[in-house]
Amino acid sequence: MKGVILAGGLGTRLHPLTKITNKHLLPVYSKPMIYYPIECLVRAGITDIMIVTGGNSAGDFIRLLENGEEFGLGRLHYAYQKGEGGIAAALALARDFVEGDKVCVVLGDNILERSIRPAVEAFQRQKAGAKVLLKSVPNPRAYGIAEVEGGRIVRIIEKPDVPASDLAVIGVYMYEPGVFEVIKTLRPSARGELEITDVNNHYAAAGTMTYEPVQGWWADAGESIDSWLDACRLVAAGGANLTG
Ligand code: DAU
Repeated sequence: MKGVILAGGLGTRLHPLTKITNKHLLPVYSKPMIYYPIECLVRAGITDIMIVTGGNSAGDFIRLLENGEEFGLGRLHYAYQKGEGGIAAALALARDFVEGDKVCVVLGDNILERSIRPAVEAFQRQKAGAKVLLKSVPNPRAYGIAEVEGGRIVRIIEKPDVPASDLAVIGVYMYEPGVFEVIKTLRPSARGELEITDVNNHYAAAGTMTYEPVQGWWADAGESIDSWLDACRLVAAGGANLTG
């Protein structure tokens, strides 16, 4: 399975911190934010990784990460997203890299305490479709929220005004190779982006989406300045070395 980390976007919610650099290069406790999704994939056994980034700081990613030696990797792949066309548009740039394989996508601002390896292994065995991870949250209006019926996700609503549950779809998504054909059918949302939630709803409607609950804590370090601070505290409390 290939790994893709999405680290583009403008990060305007963290202004002025992100006025001169990319959000994913900001520190979260003792490491740059981008380190955590890379470690997440490597801990899950995924070592063929592409980072999609954009903006003026794209070169800084290569200077910081080089070939991924610090993570035990022999090389890293990079793609450049022009503008901010949405999470699904950023994923589309990884099409040739993924090339008919399954893919595990991690948003560059998501940090998990525990390894996603069990979910990745379960998806290796899944014949088709997609898998997402769900976490109960106190502020469901800030996330994609899943409506679950009879053990299945029936739909996901992006940042709902009236949430149907408190189950956030976190920024770790696993897809069959056909996901790139699904992205081609998408139309931009009201905010002008190709939404990953529309991709996920395709699989929910087809009945081929599975899910797993997140074990341990999960942080979206890029949601707001407070969520960034929470992420720093959670990582610090764990001694910065997330294991198992
Ligand atoms: O963190 C989980 C949430 O992430 C999900 O619950 C939502 O369903 C999903 O839409 C997403 O919501 P956010 O509002 O947090 O998305 P954000 O715009 O912060 O983008 C998340 C990451 O995706 C960000 O760290 C960089 C990357 N990205 C985003 C955009 C819009 C790109 O690489 N390119 C883009 O054009």
